[in-house]
Amino acid sequence: MVHEASNYVKKCLGGGKEDAIIFCGSGSTAAIKRLQEVMGISFPSILRDKLLKCLTNEERWVVFVGPYEHHSNILSWRQSLAEVVEIGLDQKGLPDTETFKHQLEFYKSKNRPILGSFSACSNVTGICSDTHAISRLLHQFGGFACFDFAAR
Ligand SMILES: Cc1ncc(COP(=O)(O)O)c(C=O)c1O
Repeated sequence: MVHEASNYVKKCLGGGKEDAIIFCGSGSTAAIKRLQEVMGISFPSILRDKLLKCLTNEERWVVFVGPYEHHSNILSWRQSLAEVVEIGLDQKGLPDTETFKHQLEFYKSKNRPILGSFSACSNVTGICSDTHAISRLLHQFGGFACFDFAAR
């Protein structure tokens, strides 16, 4: 019954053979936390300084977040072992892709593992991000693309 239920949920979300659906408790906050666990950057906060000293620069994740993130998609990253880089707004009120590209070039040249965790839609203004363009940019620099779809 569990498999049947998870296949049904996956089908409803448009998932195919190449997709995985991972249940991780309730809500987007739990999903973001699960992602951080999978990346190996989530730990008891008391150990942060000690663990950071054990990492080489090339082992430390750079996580890009957007200009209108819910606190679930920003605070937990800041408390993790990742270096968090916030991308600001452009003139249209969307994530500034020019600056993003420069930052990606910089961190790629330093051989850093890269992941972007962007809100697919602002829960304050309703502005939607171009998730395809953000993904393409991240993939171009070998990064992983993740989105918080809680408000879309
Ligand atoms: C954009 C966005 N991200 C994350 C969350 C947190 O979601 P949850 O309460 O499902 O953990 C919310 C909740 O409103 C949200 O609007």
